[in-house]
Amino acid sequence: MALSVKEIAAKLTPVLTRRWTTSDAWRLEVYERLDGYRALRKALAAHPDDLIQVIKDSGLRGRGGAGFPAGMKWGFIPQNDGKPHYLVINADEGEPGTCKDLPLMTHDPHALIEGAIIAAYAIRAHRAFIYVRGEAVHAARRLRYAAAEAHAAGYFGRDILGTGFDLELVIHSGAGAYICGEETALLDSLEGFRGQPRLRPPFPATHGLYSCPTVVNNVGTIASVPPIVLAGADWWKSMGTEKSSGPMIYSLSGRINNPGQYECSMGITLRELIELAGGMQDGHQLKFWTPGGSSTPLLTAEHQDVPLDFESVAAAGSVLGTTATQIFSNKDCPVYATYRWLEFYQHESCGKCTPCREGNYWMVQVYRRILAGEGTHADLDTLLDTCDNILGRSFCGLGDGATSPVISSLKFFKEDYLDYIEGRVAPKLNNRQLVGAH
Ligand SMILES: Cc1cc2nc3c(=O)[nH]c(=O)nc-3n(C[C@H](O)[C@H](O)[C@H](O)COP(=O)(O)O)c2cc1C
Ligand code: SF4
Repeated sequence: MALSVKEIAAKLTPVLTRRWTTSDAWRLEVYERLDGYRALRKALAAHPDDLIQVIKDSGLRGRGGAGFPAGMKWGFIPQNDGKPHYLVINADEGEPGTCKDLPLMTHDPHALIEGAIIAAYAIRAHRAFIYVRGEAVHAARRLRYAAAEAHAAGYFGRDILGTGFDLELVIHSGAGAYICGEETALLDSLEGFRGQPRLRPPFPATHGLYSCPTVVNNVGTIASVPPIVLAGADWWKSMGTEKSSGPMIYSLSGRINNPGQYECSMGITLRELIELAGGMQDGHQLKFWTPGGSSTPLLTAEHQDVPLDFESVAAAGSVLGTTATQIFSNKDCPVYATYRWLEFYQHESCGKCTPCREGNYWMVQVYRRILAGEGTHADLDTLLDTCDNILGRSFCGLGDGATSPVISSLKFFKEDYLDYIEGRVAPKLNNRQLVGAH
């Protein structure tokens, strides 16, 4: 039976999403009425080191995919080094299925701006950048409008609120490349170069933007900072699990009745999320799903009671990633879905390293052959062998991530591959698409 609105509300923990339903919350006047910039006033009265400590105590982990502890990252920035420090906010959001940062920037842009000012103050940065995905023109426009309002109100610029702290904030639009979400490629792109990953070490904490100490954080990470500063680390830790604290925005898409953003305490299960989203669509049964975008290994209906926190998802053999939960049913084909994702990785591969550039290209050819009904049993070994040469041997996480759907779909759904190879299902691609493949 469908949950009532009251039952749904009881399961949600709206923190980052709490202003999304208020009309015009993106305007400064409305934002200020809803606690806006109170955390900034509190933060500027504190010592920067104390702010870093609060974020460390809260256990806040990065929302960009890797889940790295935010306070620890801030603490890596060397102090009294005489170099400029930079804060760079990653608003590239390109991972397939991921769609939590864009609504945040359009509905509540001041939350991100306020978080950016506090974070910059904590790491002693006087320049902050928000790198927005090129296609997200609407989000960049909202942010620019909000930034102009915040600047005019004295929330950033020179001598912020009379504290003597100066900060310039730049909203930078990229050109729309998935690889520019990888933090070092993003920094190259921001510097005006072609966006390709840099060799690490050195890490951005010491050699980031313009080779200076830099913190790169996701939109959701930085927008979490004002509520933590206002309500405290213990409040944040009262949500979620011991090692995965706080609320998380789960982005649900696919074969459910009400796709969208559901902000819940970390550790909720897919079964509960599907219930919140109005259940599976009529005639559809859960077959496979991604816990955190297409770069995270697929899980199956067997896994719908796994708590969706960093540790439990890893123990189940996948990755929490960006909590982009894409839900597929018995009417969807895991072979075809994997092929479509691989086409994306092939297209977005920056070409810097051979395993990813060549491997993804060739895997797409193999998938086309299989889906055109011309595959062989040996093709399955070729796919796994190619993955073996990409995973752990690529220059950045794009290559590794591309192997996730391939390996996991072969692990759980080998029969679906064999159906094409042994002629039990009709081909999904025709010869023309096979010949036209390049
Ligand atoms: C191919 C690739 C794409 C990525 N895209 C994004 C992105 O769009 N947004 C993001 O925040 N992090 C992305 N990341 C992760 C970043 O490299 C980095 O870990 C993150 O911005 C750090 O922020 P956080 O600690 O707040 O999560 C990507 C990583 C890879 C390998
Ligand atoms: S793994 Fe792919 S995206 Fe990353 S550096 Fe290599 S070619 Fe570029």
